[in-house]
Order: sequence, then C-alpha cells, then structure tokens
Amino acid sequence: MKQYETYMKKCFELALKGEGGTSPNPLVGCVVLNREGEIVSEGFHAKYGENHAERNALLKITPEIANGGTLIVNLEPCSHYGKTPPCADLIIEYGIKKVIIGMRDVNPIVSGNGIKKLTDAGIEVVEGILEAEAKKLNEIFITNQKEKRTFVALKTATTLDGKIATSTGDSKWITSDKARQEVKRIRYKYDAILTSSSTIIADNPTMEHRNKLILDRTLKTDFKNADIYKSGNIHVFFDETLPPPEIPDINFIPTPTIKEKLDIEFIIKKAYEIGIMSILAECGGKLNGSIIDYTDKIYHFIAPKIISDNTAKSAFDGKDIQFIKDTLNFKFDEIKTFEPDIMLTYYKAHK
Ligand SMILES: NC(=O)c1ccc[n+]([C@@H]2O[C@H](COP(=O)([O-])OP(=O)(O)OC[C@H]3O[C@@H](n4cnc5c(N)ncnc54)[C@H](OP(=O)(O)O)[C@@H]3O)[C@@H](O)[C@H]2O)c1
Repeated sequence: MKQYETYMKKCFELALKGEGGTSPNPLVGCVVLNREGEIVSEGFHAKYGENHAERNALLKITPEIANGGTLIVNLEPCSHYGKTPPCADLIIEYGIKKVIIGMRDVNPIVSGNGIKKLTDAGIEVVEGILEAEAKKLNEIFITNQKEKRTFVALKTATTLDGKIATSTGDSKWITSDKARQEVKRIRYKYDAILTSSSTIIADNPTMEHRNKLILDRTLKTDFKNADIYKSGNIHVFFDETLPPPEIPDINFIPTPTIKEKLDIEFIIKKAYEIGIMSILAECGGKLNGSIIDYTDKIYHFIAPKIISDNTAKSAFDGKDIQFIKDTLNFKFDEIKTFEPDIMLTYYKAHK
C-alpha cells in the first residue's frame, strides 16, 4: 500500500493545479502506470465543463501503453454522462487492470456506481488510500454535495493580543508581506470573498477576486470610486426596504434584516443559489462576530505584535459571552509559518 500512497500524494499535487477553476466540481488528479509499474501519464481536472483528470491522463497515451496497467486517482471515477462521458468507461476501454482510489464520490449519481462499473468489468479496485487527506482536499465539494450549501471560511489577521486594528482604525499592515501573499493564494481557492461596508470605508481594499460579496445594508460605500468595485463580479447585499441603486455591472440583492443587521443565513443561501460554492469572509470584528456562527473553517494569521489597548478593534466582537462553558469551540487543524507570522487553521469543533 505504501507505494500507492506516494502516487496518491502525486494525485493531490496534480489536483491542486485545478484550484480556483473546477467549482462546483471537485479537485482531481490522476496518475497512470503501465504493466511494468512505470508512470506513463498524469492528468488533472483543470476547469468545470472540461475533461476529468482520468480522461486527461488517458487521452495523452494509447490503450496499448495503458493496457494491463494501474490508474491512481483521488476520487472515484464517474459512471454517468455529465458534461463529459463516463471516465469508468474509458478506463475499461484502455485495458486498465487495477484502479486505486482515495475516496468514494459523495455525489449520489456516482457514489459506488463508478466502482461497481469497474469491478463488473473485472478491474481490481483498491479504495481508501490516504482517504482523510483526500476528503480534506475536497472539503468544499463534500459540503456542497452532502449538505447542499456553501462552504464558509473566515480569514483574520491579528496581533498577539487578538487585535485587527488600533483604536484609530489603523490596520496596515499587521502581518508581513509573506503572510499577505498567502492570503492571496487562499482567496483564489474560494469562489468568492465576502466583506463589509465598514471595512471598505476604513481600508479601501482591492481584494482581487473573480467574485465579491459585499454587505452594505444602507448602501453607504462609494460604488463609483472604491477600489473593491473595480474588478470581479460584484454582488451587493442591502436592506430590502431601500430602493436598489441603478448602477450597471453590480448585482444588488435586496436582503431581509434582523435587528438592523443583514440576515447572514439568507446571504449564504443566496450565494449557493447563484452558484457560489465557497466563501472566504474577510471583515472586521463585528461582521466576524456574526459570520462565525456559519463558519466551517478559520485561517488565523498572528503577527508577533502587541497593541495593548482595550479600545483597539478585536477580531471577533458582539457575542457577549459570560461563561467559558458558553464559548464557541473550534478544532485545531494545522500551523504554518510565514515569518515572522504564523497561520493557524481551525474547523468547527463538531467536524
Ligand atoms: N486584520 C484583518 O484580518 C481585517 C480584515 C478586515 C477588516 N479589518 C479591519 O476591521 C475594521 C472594521 O471592523 P468593524 O468591526 O468596524 O467592521 P466589520 O466587522 O468589517 O463590518 C461591520 C459592519 O458590517 C455591517 N453588517 C451587515 N450585516 C451585519 C451583520 N449581520 N452582523 C454584523 N455586521 C453587519 C454593519 O454595517 P451596516 O449595518 O451599516 O451595513 C456593521 O457595522 C477596519 O478597521 C479594518 O481595517 C481587519
């Protein structure tokens, strides 16, 4: 099994090349070995609607080269006609004798059926190689498929004392250039970034991204001049009782409010309806304090700096928890260093 783990890790590396392009499809990489056990082809799923990883890998070689060989792939091959024909059929056609899979597909149209098609054709199937890693790689896809909802992540960058800005609102920059480069990489993984009117007014951020969700209840941001509106598809959520402004190229979405705050649950549901399968929230403490109730994953950058002022802005605000037993709890995932800063990732405790 050990040798399969090495090839599976290669599949993960290949799969990641599709990051940012495959949604709502999963990230998939594939390695093909000939009957002598030598790598003869590799492929990955690059873009939604285009060939799947297995098809890309196999079409680079002839059936003569693949015949009697092994195919390694991080997700169960598909068995149905979607945007492309079934990968399982091509694997059979190419004379592959063994298929190594990271995880079963969670898509009910595929789950188990791809494997059945292969085994019915006499192919040996080995499942569950580096399954936990395979599931983590496709955590967004799994959430979308199983729970029919958008995956929500939140990024925050704080000082050692948990502050995101001084009392004057100065926040540039708490973390290093290296850490901020990593934020750009993380953003790319997600279908959309989400931020608030307050953060736009305080920082005038650009937040380069293909899709931007802006929470501007009272329509107070400068839609003509603020840098955030200069690129990407823009969706602005605002109080449904106000008339929407007539500004071309911005999708204004009337939104219900609860106690003078936009309804976050409505926003996340709406995002799913418009095809946004994952969100990275990048906002200040107040909105973080609301979004946290819907957050699956936190990326927490910490810079070795201290502000030491209880009027400075905190990363999370507005919950008013009196007892430790009532805290929101998260499960540690990993730590990375972007010197001099660190990045911690957490999941909701029940994950
Ligand atoms: N270090 C970091 O990672 C980071 C990231 C982003 C921002 N920041 C800093 O954060 C500061 C802004 O923080 P902030 O706490 O003032 O603002 P915020 O949390 O970014 O936004 C809060 C505002 O969002 C709007 N909002 C709409 N629906 C909401 C809901 N359901 N719950 C909460 N808010 C909702 C409200 O304004 P309306 O009701 O008027 O629309 C509210 O005042 C800036 O100084 C910025 O530099 C830091």
